[in-house]
Amino acid sequence: MVKNLFASQIYQAKIMKSKTDLLELSREIYKIRDIDLVGQKWSKKNYVTGYTSYGSMDQLQQFSSSFSDLNQMLKPHLKTFLKSLGFKISVNQLQLNSMWTNIMSQGSHHSFHIHPLSVISGTFYVQVPKGSAAIQFEDPRHGLMMASPPRDGVFHSLVPTAGDVVLFESWMRHQVPAQTVKQDRISVSFNYDWR
Ligand SMILES: [Fe+2]
Repeated sequence: MVKNLFASQIYQAKIMKSKTDLLELSREIYKIRDIDLVGQKWSKKNYVTGYTSYGSMDQLQQFSSSFSDLNQMLKPHLKTFLKSLGFKISVNQLQLNSMWTNIMSQGSHHSFHIHPLSVISGTFYVQVPKGSAAIQFEDPRHGLMMASPPRDGVFHSLVPTAGDVVLFESWMRHQVPAQTVKQDRISVSFNYDWR
């Protein structure tokens, strides 16, 4: 008998179905990009060919109701995920620490990273053209594997669709390989901390 222990969990759910709502949100995000000159400059250096408000406007929940509404919409999903993870804290003990937006244009990518000091991180997908880059998670045991032969399943690619949210524990390493299609992939990312 083989037992699977200490499985990693990724949460995915469709939280926005209306194409009009998604389109409106994408328009708002392009407007943010257009006014955010500091972010454009930051992105030129740190997010080549794309735009992210990570280095300039990472409190979007305080900037417009579209994003504070998104925070509210996430609550029941966070609650479910916390329960599934076995955490002994309630959803009210999580606090939205930061929320920013990303426009991945053709050629932009985001290499492997974690979101330090947070509990749950995630991304809401606003626009995901066909053929867009996936989000790729790394087996968290990878760095501990000594003298281990190559094996399948060290990386898992998850392809979201517009309106999806993906939640994961903040220590889980992930990347987004290069966006190869011409249309932009647009998302909103966030971190929840334990208060
Ligand atoms: Fe990330």
